Amino acid sequence: MNIAVIGTGHVGLVSCVALARMGHEVVGFDVDQEKVSLLQRGVTPFHEPDLDSALHGELDGGRLRFTASASDALARASVVFICVGTPMGEDGEADLHAMEQAASQIARDANDGVIVVEKSTVPAGTAERVRTAISLEAPNLDFDVASNPEFLREGHALHDALFPDRIVVGVSSEVAASILRRVYEPITSNGALLIETDVRTAELAKHASNAFLAMKISYANALARLSERLGADVRDVIEVLGADPRIGPAFLGAGLGYGGYCLPKDVLGLERLSARVGYDFGLLREVDRVNREAMEATVEKIEDALWNLQGKRICILGLAFKAGTDDARLSPAVELARRLRDLGASVVAYDPMASANAQHEVPELDIAPDPYVAAIGAHCVVIATEWAEFRHLDLKALREAVATPILVDARNVLREDQGWAAGFAYYSMGRRPLQRHPGASDLFVLPEPAPLDAVADAAG
Ligand code: UGA
Repeated sequence: MNIAVIGTGHVGLVSCVALARMGHEVVGFDVDQEKVSLLQRGVTPFHEPDLDSALHGELDGGRLRFTASASDALARASVVFICVGTPMGEDGEADLHAMEQAASQIARDANDGVIVVEKSTVPAGTAERVRTAISLEAPNLDFDVASNPEFLREGHALHDALFPDRIVVGVSSEVAASILRRVYEPITSNGALLIETDVRTAELAKHASNAFLAMKISYANALARLSERLGADVRDVIEVLGADPRIGPAFLGAGLGYGGYCLPKDVLGLERLSARVGYDFGLLREVDRVNREAMEATVEKIEDALWNLQGKRICILGLAFKAGTDDARLSPAVELARRLRDLGASVVAYDPMASANAQHEVPELDIAPDPYVAAIGAHCVVIATEWAEFRHLDLKALREAVATPILVDARNVLREDQGWAAGFAYYSMGRRPLQRHPGASDLFVLPEPAPLDAVADAAG
């Protein structure tokens, strides 16, 4: 099939490559001429495992090309996927300007019979807006609008696009349904699950999935706060929860909270949408509040450990919003760096992939080429992204580099005994405070857990 993809960001570019891999003729369109030139040369503008080689493969195979001309992209397309960005607006609602622009391009240049498929995450009801916008500009165009939300995770994007847990297709006509079945036939024939529903339900299902994942993380973070107060260990609590198949262990990692381009925006976007249609989804406000609290708790932990932040040098390990990506947009690690700088500390950071993007977010950030250089002269080291390589840090070398041995593991990537064994005062998230380390000064002793009689009193 001839497919056009509007927008070549994370979702758009991965969709281009995956759809070409499925055997379709794909044209990727972007208004950013510079990005298009890179893609035409086979250069991916962001890091994503296996995407480079897959992009080259599809360009060489002739099934995929890129253009900065909408009319060129839409000339032969029978299906158009809209994959433009829908960033969070100032009021928490999604900013849908790029969707409107895409609708306008389609109205001008698409052919009769085209199926317009919204893949970007959007508030329920957006497809109807797109339909109206196209009809107003091109009253004679014969077209249909469908929703086919994407569930890929950054860092696993191509794999997720080719081997999805589920493909969700929201349609209002049998024609659109059969065309989308044909689009995905190469992977549904290998067993991928395709769920068909109406357009609004598909739109809502995507928002609901991301908000649910965020809710799990906030639940874990709330338990972390409680565990710290009770002297319990949140990792063990989570292990117990996660062993119940009705709950599952994924997305229960306590730490600095969720970030990135999707979860924060989708929690607030769904809450705003609910309010607009008269339902108070207070649960989502709590999810967001607990997420902010996770950041506050980390800042407080660092402040507690360091006493005064003014004039202190803090080494932050990790800047990406999560491991496996160079994306630093709405990264909790970057936000932490910003907060610590605002409180008077100087920050030097290391990330295996996201340094350049993080520096774009905070231009004043000092970046080091490796963790040990970053730690030189630091009064505190903070692990802020759950990169696997931080599990294997040479803690002895790190200890030798720092000025004072304080290690805040804001992502719980280390085992509790590791930091202490290397001579650090080791702080983690939601774990019972350790007994005083013989080598550490009193300044490093964490507050005692709530006395047992207080716990008994609370229990009534
Ligand atoms: C998320 C969803 O997981 C995808 O299914 C969805 O398709 C995508 O958004 C999207 O809407 O495009 P992504 O933003 O790539 O994917 O990142 P996640 O893997 O969901 O992680 C989000 C944040 O949660 C990260 O900051 C991560 O560090 C944090 N996290 C994750 C935790 O704090 N604890 C956990 O246990 C898991």
